[in-house]
Amino acid sequence: MRSLETVELTKAFGGNVVLDKTTVSFRHGKVNALIGPNGSGKTTFFNCVTGMIRPDSGRVLYGGADITRRAPHAIARAGIGRTFQLCRVFPRMTVLDNVLAAARPANLFRGARGRAEVDRARGWLTKLGIEHLAGAEARNLSWGQQKLLELAGVLMSEPETVLLDEPAGGVNPALLDRIGGLVRELNAEGRTFVIVEHNMDLVMSISDHIVVFDRGRPIAEGPPAAIRSDERVLGAYLGV
Ligand SMILES: Nc1ncnc2c1ncn2[C@@H]1O[C@H](COP(=O)(O)OP(=O)(O)OP(=O)(O)O)[C@@H](O)[C@H]1O
Ligand SMILES: [Mg+2]
Repeated sequence: MRSLETVELTKAFGGNVVLDKTTVSFRHGKVNALIGPNGSGKTTFFNCVTGMIRPDSGRVLYGGADITRRAPHAIARAGIGRTFQLCRVFPRMTVLDNVLAAARPANLFRGARGRAEVDRARGWLTKLGIEHLAGAEARNLSWGQQKLLELAGVLMSEPETVLLDEPAGGVNPALLDRIGGLVRELNAEGRTFVIVEHNMDLVMSISDHIVVFDRGRPIAEGPPAAIRSDERVLGAYLGV
C-alpha cells in the first residue's frame, strides 16, 4: 500500500516557521483534503513534498520510501503529480500542444510526437470535457478551463497520487461540479488525491478524509462529518 506521509517536516522562511514538525499521513486510494486558513502552510507543504523547495528537516515518505530531497522530476516519476494554485499553462500555445508539452518537453517540436501520445492527450481532453478546445490558444480559455487543461497535462504522466492546489479557486459554479465529479471518477479508477481547497462545500462533498492545518501543524483530521463540527477547526478559521 503506497501512502504519502511526512514525519516532523519543518520549513521556515527567515524567522517565519511555516511547517513546524508536521507529521501527517494521507490515505492511499482515497480523496484526501488538506484545509486550513490562508498562510497556514498548505502550498508550502505541497512544495516540500514535490521537491520544489527543500525542507529544513524532517522526512517525506511515499509508499514507505524516503523521497525527501529528491528532485521534482524524480518525485513525479515515483508517481506523484501536482497542479499549482496559480495554474501553469503556456498561454500562447494551443490546448493540445500544452498537454503534449506537459508530458514531454521534446513534444514542443511537432516532429518528436508519436501518434499514440497525441491520441492519449486527446483522450484526457475528452475525459475532462475540453476536447472541443484542442486547437484554441490556452489564453482564450476561462480560468476553470485552464485548470482542467493543467490537470490534463498532469494526468499524461499517469500519476497514482495527484495533489491539487485550490482546483476550485476562481472557477465558475458550472465547472465546479464537473471538477468535483472528475475527482471522484478518477479516484474510482484508482488514483489517490490530496486536495487543498477553501471551498468547503466541495471539500465536504468529495473528501473521504480531511486534515486541517493551523500554522503548519495538523490540528484535526477525520471524515467530513467529524471535521464540520470540530471546535478546533472552527477556532482556527475564525481566529478564536
Ligand atoms: N518562497 C517563500 N518565501 C518566503 N515566505 C514564503 C514563501 N512561500 C510561502 N511563504 C510564507 O509561508 C507562509 C505560508 O504560505 P503558504 O503559501 O504555504 O500558505 P497556504 O496555506 O497555501 O495559504 P493560502 O490558503 O492563502 O494559499 C506565509 O506566511 C507565506 O508568506
Ligand atoms: Mg496556498
